[in-house]
Amino acid sequence: MYLGLDLGTSSLKAMLIDDGQTVIASADAALSVARPHHGWSEQNPADWIDACRIAVGRLAERHPGELAAVRGIGLSGHMHGATILDKEGAVLRPCILWNDTRSHVEAAQLDDDPRFRAITGNIVFPGFTAPKLVWVKKNEPEIFGKVGKVLLPKDYLRYWLTGEYISEMSDSAGTSWLDTAKRDWSDELLAATDLSRSQMPALVEGSEVGGTLKSALAAEWGMTGPVVVAGGAGDNAASACGMGTVADGAAFVSLGTSGVLFAANDRYRPKPESAVHAFCHALPGTWHQMGVILSATDTLNWYAKITDKSPAELSTEVGDTLQAPGDVTFLPYLSGERTPHNDAAIRGAFIGLAHESDRPAMTRAVMEGVAFALRDNLEALRSAGTELSRITAIGGGSRSRYWLKAVATALDLPIDIPADGDFGAAFGAARLGMLAATGGDPLAVCTPPKTAETVEPETAHKAAFEEAYQRYRALYPAIRAVTKA
Ligand code: XUL
Repeated sequence: MYLGLDLGTSSLKAMLIDDGQTVIASADAALSVARPHHGWSEQNPADWIDACRIAVGRLAERHPGELAAVRGIGLSGHMHGATILDKEGAVLRPCILWNDTRSHVEAAQLDDDPRFRAITGNIVFPGFTAPKLVWVKKNEPEIFGKVGKVLLPKDYLRYWLTGEYISEMSDSAGTSWLDTAKRDWSDELLAATDLSRSQMPALVEGSEVGGTLKSALAAEWGMTGPVVVAGGAGDNAASACGMGTVADGAAFVSLGTSGVLFAANDRYRPKPESAVHAFCHALPGTWHQMGVILSATDTLNWYAKITDKSPAELSTEVGDTLQAPGDVTFLPYLSGERTPHNDAAIRGAFIGLAHESDRPAMTRAVMEGVAFALRDNLEALRSAGTELSRITAIGGGSRSRYWLKAVATALDLPIDIPADGDFGAAFGAARLGMLAATGGDPLAVCTPPKTAETVEPETAHKAAFEEAYQRYRALYPAIRAVTKA
């Protein structure tokens, strides 16, 4: 048995799989995000531990026999967060999350130093870890003076599980401190932010052993044998392991809190000026590219909140039959945007409102806006040398048929829907746990799921979507011109 733990932004999921990769059970525990100031987004690391205890505790209650047989745990987590510990391992402040944009000035300053793009292969985005530490140094110097270790969120969970400071390549590639080609920390970049290797965790590959579960926790959960904890992965690379997106050119679209267009690469292929992320994959000797939009299902959640409906009710209201885009256009930049704009200050907009713009028309505009933002990401990947021929859909938003049809048509790509099952980050993490425990062949373990159905682009609406996309593209510079820096 193997356990996958995915520390998500809105919940932690624990998933138990057996030797044949059949999912035995999973359990979730909710998490919330604090937004104490404009652009801030934080979580208390103690809440991750509580959530982990709740989720694994539920599995232990319902499946004690299976949990007893766990031999490997894999970790996945939301990326880029700065979890700052003192020399004794105590948390010094709330974790600053991936969608926190407070350090945009510090990010731009680091990005102006050409070494960052040259060594990491990426823009220094405000959401990445290094600029957050520069912000802490400037605004909370007493905390910066005490930094013993900087950990990514899932690696803090590992520290609690194993007592060890360890990370792996895929998540570390999103810190702005990793030499992405060499798969090692860059002493030069760490020094440029007044930090050193001693303040970073040791690095392993995602499928290698990265610690052993503490005996007290093994006893609490009734696990009998020695349990290894795999390196694991950032949530996107973990999802890719779950979906079998590991061979060169394989791709998925994730409609989660954030939206991601992810392509696996057999070599390191950076193109920072496109705002495409070029990161290490979780398996040795592999890399990946991705375009990231900061608000995907978050846009519908926001619109649901202000209309006093649930996202499911809004989806039902628009039905399943794709319509040509109407006169209302939505820009989904609720927390700024990464690919392709790298703009922390930009915000969302509805344009083209008229008396007849009713709730379904605006829901459709919200979904189309996310689809067009993903099309921007497809163009960015193209400019970075990656052509996609089909993509697989994952994430909560992919349950909306309307949304999938809009994305397929805006991207002009068929979208495969996996056969029943959950092949997301928790499953990918469990697979990495299995690889670390058994030493199995990564390619034999990380296979794609069967496709249940393919959503094809709707030919009848292709031209209308293309025209609406061109209008959408023209709106960013217009809104930028009237937005403060
Ligand atoms: C990736 C990113 C997000 C988070 C969401 O660069 O910031 O996808 O990992 O959990």
